[in-house]
Amino acid sequence: MDNHPLTIVIFGASGDLFKKKLAQAFFDLYKDGFLAPGFSLFGVSRRSIADEDFRAQVLSSIETEDKKLAKEFVENLFFRSGDIDDKATYDMLKNEFTMRDDMLGLCTRKLFYLAVIPDLYEKVFRNLSASGLTIPCAPEFGDKTLSWVRVLVEKPFGKDAEHAEMLDELLGKLFEEDQIFRIDHYLGKEILQNILAFRFGNALFEPLWSKRHVSEICVRMHETSEKGSLAERAKLYDALGALRDVGQNHLLQMLAIATMENPLSFSAEDIREARTALLSSIKVKEDIKNFAHAQYDGYQDEPGIEEGSDTETYFRAELEIKNERWKGVPIFIEHGKALKDTLAEISITFKASDESDESMFVPATNKLTFHIQPKEGISIEFYAKKSAFQYELEKKKLSFDYKSSHATPFVYPYVKLLRDAISGDQTLFVSTDEIKEQWRIASDIEKVLEDVPLLVYPKGSDAHEIKED
Ligand code: BG6
Repeated sequence: MDNHPLTIVIFGASGDLFKKKLAQAFFDLYKDGFLAPGFSLFGVSRRSIADEDFRAQVLSSIETEDKKLAKEFVENLFFRSGDIDDKATYDMLKNEFTMRDDMLGLCTRKLFYLAVIPDLYEKVFRNLSASGLTIPCAPEFGDKTLSWVRVLVEKPFGKDAEHAEMLDELLGKLFEEDQIFRIDHYLGKEILQNILAFRFGNALFEPLWSKRHVSEICVRMHETSEKGSLAERAKLYDALGALRDVGQNHLLQMLAIATMENPLSFSAEDIREARTALLSSIKVKEDIKNFAHAQYDGYQDEPGIEEGSDTETYFRAELEIKNERWKGVPIFIEHGKALKDTLAEISITFKASDESDESMFVPATNKLTFHIQPKEGISIEFYAKKSAFQYELEKKKLSFDYKSSHATPFVYPYVKLLRDAISGDQTLFVSTDEIKEQWRIASDIEKVLEDVPLLVYPKGSDAHEIKED
């Protein structure tokens, strides 16, 4: 990593994402020496917050024992109040940057982070361009190759397929693809990256990874009220719902990584291409029996949620991967808020052995699960003989816990992703083709759900209980 300073702008800095995840991630980058001296971070939102108050807020949300370092870090933070819709906000930022760059005597890199609702993306892109902020500083300020401009955009990219296409076209006119980093923070999770290593690094499992041996794949993400709390993002959530908030992105990426073909190389291009190829072969089943959507009881009383809102907080759907490897294997994806427990996992159920029904054993199916939450690991359900004279089987589990078996601590997903964006590595960011496929799948699921009644479930329900009476 070279030592060229960076200027970061967070649009939507008074929101939940910055407080809960980004502030800590930027501090971790600072601590690890990834933010060269001379860096600055500008929080922008409509609210008016003094620099000192912004710094105090960030300080209180950072977890560290090194208070001195945290204080030193926040000295580089500033807050600018401005309307995202108003070009004057961007002109003001441009002046600030020019002043700081003049002071440093160089052209700093610029990283714009869009932590705002998808409705506002277009305005931000257009205003960035109109005020000349998409263009790196003039060459007379120093080495032009160092003075890049990049944009980081949070998921979901757009509100639906058409909106995403429009935004992509617009982005394509204003930026080169290598300047655009579309975030899906699940891709930054160590355990997801480890799935590829597990699959392609162990000859034991890969030969079984197909319709010949697999009977079912489930991708689930459940959250309790506490874990998935809407807090300050209720309005944003209400405009999205469970399918667009999590299904269109995290769940489909989890599925893609667990089922894609061998990328042949670990280059960003090959990995993204393999994910895209998998996503493009996903078809949504049309048989409504395995589809459901529901809203938890009390959702409409949450602060910020409109009375009468029909936004779903739970959904499940059935998919199929129409390629040689997976054709015919039922695939289920499911996500819900305010459920009984918090978990995120991908489970692969294997068919019972052909011979087992004729032998002395009852047909037993093995299940391999990648656990992403709450504890990162892998488990395999298998059968062992009961300790008696008869050959009777009982289910057992082989478990592997990532954290306790790794000497170095896991890198927090946002830290990993920010580090990659700063060093220009696109591997863990979603390409424009992936976005297109993800929206196609989400729209097809929505079409099926139009014929399914929206149910109501009590908070703390078990996902199995969410069904029509
Ligand atoms: C976010 C969703 O992308 O992921 C939230 O918008 C969800 O609704 C969150 O709660 C879960 O992330 P994690 O990493 O805590 O599982």
